[in-house]
Amino acid sequence: MPPRPILIDTDPGQDDAVAILMACAAPEALDVLGLATVGGNVPIELTTANALRILELAGRTELPVHAGCPRPILRPLTTAPEIHGESGLAGTDLPAPRIAARPGHGVPWIIETLMTALEPVTVCTLGPLTNLALALVMEPRIAGRIAEIIAMGGSFSGGNVMPAAEFNIYVDPEAAAIVLGCGRPITLIPLDCTWQVRALPERLARIARIGTRSAEVVSQIMSYRADSEGGVGRPLHDACVIARLLRPDLFDGPQVPVQVETSSELTRGATLMDRRGRTGLPANCRVLLEVDADGFFELLGGLLARLP
Ligand code: BDR
Ligand code: CA
Repeated sequence: MPPRPILIDTDPGQDDAVAILMACAAPEALDVLGLATVGGNVPIELTTANALRILELAGRTELPVHAGCPRPILRPLTTAPEIHGESGLAGTDLPAPRIAARPGHGVPWIIETLMTALEPVTVCTLGPLTNLALALVMEPRIAGRIAEIIAMGGSFSGGNVMPAAEFNIYVDPEAAAIVLGCGRPITLIPLDCTWQVRALPERLARIARIGTRSAEVVSQIMSYRADSEGGVGRPLHDACVIARLLRPDLFDGPQVPVQVETSSELTRGATLMDRRGRTGLPANCRVLLEVDADGFFELLGGLLARLP
């Protein structure tokens, strides 16, 4: 099988960084066409610099990075420095990037990349969905060029930023609604799944022993504020997106209709899964609710051993 073309839309962000490293480590399976950054965990200047720092760490400086939207479509940006630190990559001392983002905004770059790719592209979203939503609005024909969207976002058992909402959907719920309504196959990886994939101390110790600089950085950033996400060990939310691509058998979940709340302030960004067919809506998402966390960490360790 030739490598599958993917595009990564991201707001690094510590778990975003792990996801990017994993994607960089599997060129035989994933043909990474490039990265678009978005304002999310930290402002866009930092998410862009962090994406570049991670590509340098991975030795994949040939991959283009395009800075996308600095804020959501309708709302001011909400960030998460209490989780990711002020820099977005707290816990490590990676140098400032020597490479630069490519000229040109991330949204037209997504459109151009999808329209000119030789085959439909899998779009991996690791942050608020602003860039992809605007790309779909600007050029609706890109929908036909998307093989699948794999998005980390949503929650069906309570949120992390608000009682009902997960961060990526909460930050830009209008963008999430546009993407969920685009008609292409979507795999949604909500907190219900990613909260099971925790960087427990013994797992981080095993990663640190791999001995590569990439593994050291992952153990450092995931050790930062280890108890800040409601339990022992930080969840590797976004890394589940890349793990799903490489090892689909590690995950399972139903094909169901999913909607996003955009009008209520109390439940802004809540995701609703219609498991009993009450809405009569077509199933628009495969929602992954189950994961083999040990299998995930085995995969992660193997990939980190392949990087510098
Ligand atoms: C999501 O929000 C961010 O803090 C993480 O990078 C992840 O994408 C988890 O809710
Ligand atoms: Ca993220």
